[in-house]
Amino acid sequence: MKKLRKAVLPVAGFGTRVLPATKTIPKEMLPVVDQPALQYVVDEAREAGIEHFVFVTGRNKGAIEDYFDRAYELEYSLKAKGKTEIYDALDAATPEAGTMSFVRQQSAKGLGHAIWCARDVIGDDPFAILLPDVLVKAKKSCLAQMVEAYNEVGGNVIAVDAVPEERVSSYGVIAPQSRNGRLIEMSGMVEKPPVSEAPSNLKITGRYILQPEIMGILKDQAAGAGGEIQLTDAMATLMGQQPFHAYEYEGQDYDCGSKIGYLEAVLGFAKDHPEIGEQARALIKRFAQ
Ligand code: G1P
Repeated sequence: MKKLRKAVLPVAGFGTRVLPATKTIPKEMLPVVDQPALQYVVDEAREAGIEHFVFVTGRNKGAIEDYFDRAYELEYSLKAKGKTEIYDALDAATPEAGTMSFVRQQSAKGLGHAIWCARDVIGDDPFAILLPDVLVKAKKSCLAQMVEAYNEVGGNVIAVDAVPEERVSSYGVIAPQSRNGRLIEMSGMVEKPPVSEAPSNLKITGRYILQPEIMGILKDQAAGAGGEIQLTDAMATLMGQQPFHAYEYEGQDYDCGSKIGYLEAVLGFAKDHPEIGEQARALIKRFAQ
């Protein structure tokens, strides 16, 4: 079995649900306490052993590339002022040269199409997908939990978690068949079903480990829900050809693409922050009164 080294992060979306905040700032760069949302996702992937990141970007997303580059003027000024701690933190966060690729999705044709745009960089390797709208707070990173399961069962593994039934139509939903601990065998999956037709309340969270054969399926994938090329539809086909499991991870997910989900993420990460956690908890209590 090939080691999982690469991850695709689709970052081309407009962030329409949090406009106007995202008019000039990519939604992935919105701060969650003291880091851009995207940094949490990159850290999650690193903890899972990911060595190469493929960002599928679009127009007005230049800030993402710059964020992962050196900022010489800033670094020089921090050094000159003796702010070594901040300098060291920035330095340590800079990725090793050659470990990030950026490919462009020129038109918004859906998540499936965005992933397909990364096909040449993925080549014949298994790869992870992390949707950066979703932050997962967990003791062991969500993707690291999935890698453990993947090392056991191989094939394809997607993260799922339960949502209130009335919300299933906003997500991809799986049809579970049998369960072995946190691993679930499936008979199918469907993108954004009406509540009355949803096969369960287990939603696809936005973390995937897939085999490269998905790219061949995506190439000819017809548009599905919302008139977009859906990754879920391509995975449903791959499920008939290769081992495919869902994994109910341990942790809390936050949908940073929505106003309330973003606020929840800020509060969730603030309350356990090593520097300001105690103050944040007191603040939350005060606001709750
Ligand atoms: C995407 C996927 C969906 C998944 C969701 C998780 O939908 O298509 O299957 O459940 O992310 O957030 P989107 O939120 O991009 O509409």
